[in-house]
Amino acid sequence: MDDSDLQTVPLDNTYVETVVHHDREFQRYALDNGVYFAPVDEDEAERLRIIHNVFNRMFEGRLIFPPMPQLRRVLECGFGSASWAIDVAEQYPTCEVIGIDIYPNMAPEIIPPNLNLQVDDLNRPSTFASNHFDLVNSRLMAGGIHSNRWGNYMADILRVLRPGGWCQMVEIYFNAQSDNGTLTDNHALRTWSSRYLQSLQPYKDPRAALQLQNWMTDAGFVEVERRLIILPLSGWSSDPRDHDLGVANRDNVHRLLASLAIYPFTERLGMTPADVQLLVAQARIEADNPAFKAYFPVYVCIGRKPGGSGHSKGSRHHHSHRSGRNGDTRKRART
Ligand SMILES: C[S@@+](CC[C@H](N)C(=O)[O-])C[C@H]1O[C@@H](n2cnc3c(N)ncnc32)[C@H](O)[C@@H]1O
Repeated sequence: MDDSDLQTVPLDNTYVETVVHHDREFQRYALDNGVYFAPVDEDEAERLRIIHNVFNRMFEGRLIFPPMPQLRRVLECGFGSASWAIDVAEQYPTCEVIGIDIYPNMAPEIIPPNLNLQVDDLNRPSTFASNHFDLVNSRLMAGGIHSNRWGNYMADILRVLRPGGWCQMVEIYFNAQSDNGTLTDNHALRTWSSRYLQSLQPYKDPRAALQLQNWMTDAGFVEVERRLIILPLSGWSSDPRDHDLGVANRDNVHRLLASLAIYPFTERLGMTPADVQLLVAQARIEADNPAFKAYFPVYVCIGRKPGGSGHSKGSRHHHSHRSGRNGDTRKRART
C-alpha cells in the first residue's frame, strides 16, 4: 500500500446524490456547497467524451505536453468522464494513474487496472504525499475551483509533484470571439458569454484561463510556458485542420451552450428557463454561421517543479515544435 491508498476517502451518499433542475441532473453536494454548477448526467458525460476527442484532434493525439521520458505516477484533477485518465492509463500500462473528482458517476464502470479513481473536493487542501507524482493534469476545472483557491491549488499541485515533475493545465476562456470582428455585443453568442462570465462570479474565476501562467509562476513553477490556441465553434475555417476541428467541436458547442448555462442563468441571474432556451438557440445559430468565424480561446500552460532530474530547455524541442504549430494555427485561422 502506498501513501495515496491511505488517503482514499470512503464513498458515501454525500457525493452520489443528485438533484434535477430544468430536466438536467446535478450533483447535490456541488450545488449545496457552491462547488460546480454544470450537470453530471449522461448527456454531460457524453459531452465530456466529445470534448476529449476535440482536444485529441487539437493536440494531434498528444495526451501529455511536457517532455516526460518516464511516467510512474500521474494525477488527474477532475476526471469527469475519465476519458483522459483512461487514455493515459492505457498508453502507459506501467504508470499508476490516480483521478480525483467530486462526482464519480460520469466515469465508466470498467476502467484499466492501473487507473484508480477517487472522490474528493479539490477545493480542500490535497492529502497526497509530497513529491509523489511525475505529472499533474488539470483540464477544464475553472468551473469547479473556487476563485480564492487558485493560489493554494497551484501550491498543492507543486507540493505533490516530485522535484522535476510537471503540471499541465488546459482551460477554455468561455468568451466567444469572432475572427473577423463581426460578432458584436448585441449578438446572442456575446450575450451568452458575458452572462456566463458574470453568473459564475464571485464563486469562480471565469477568467482563470488567462491567469494560469501567472499563478503557476507565482506558485514557484519554472519553465512555465503558455500557448493560446483558437477553438473554432463550427467548421468555418478554410484551413483543413481547423475546419475539421470546428466540425468536431460543433456538437460540443451546441451541448455546452445549454448545459453550462441552465443552472447559473436561472438560479444566479434570474432568467426564466424559456429565456435561457431562446438565448441558447440563437447562440447556436450564430456559432454555426460561418460568416462570424466564431471561436473560444483555449489556454494551455505547462510548468515544472524545480529540482530533480528535470530536463533543461535544450531537451524540449518536441514541445517547442508543437508550440510553433499552434502559433501557425492562429495565423492560418485569420486568413
Ligand atoms: C468540465 S469537467 C472536466 C472533466 C475533465 N477534466 C475533462 O477535461 O474532460 C469538470 C469536472 O470537474 C469536477 N469538479 C468540479 N469541481 C471540483 C472540485 N472542487 N473537486 C473535484 N472535482 C471537481 C466535476 O465533477 C467534473 O467532472
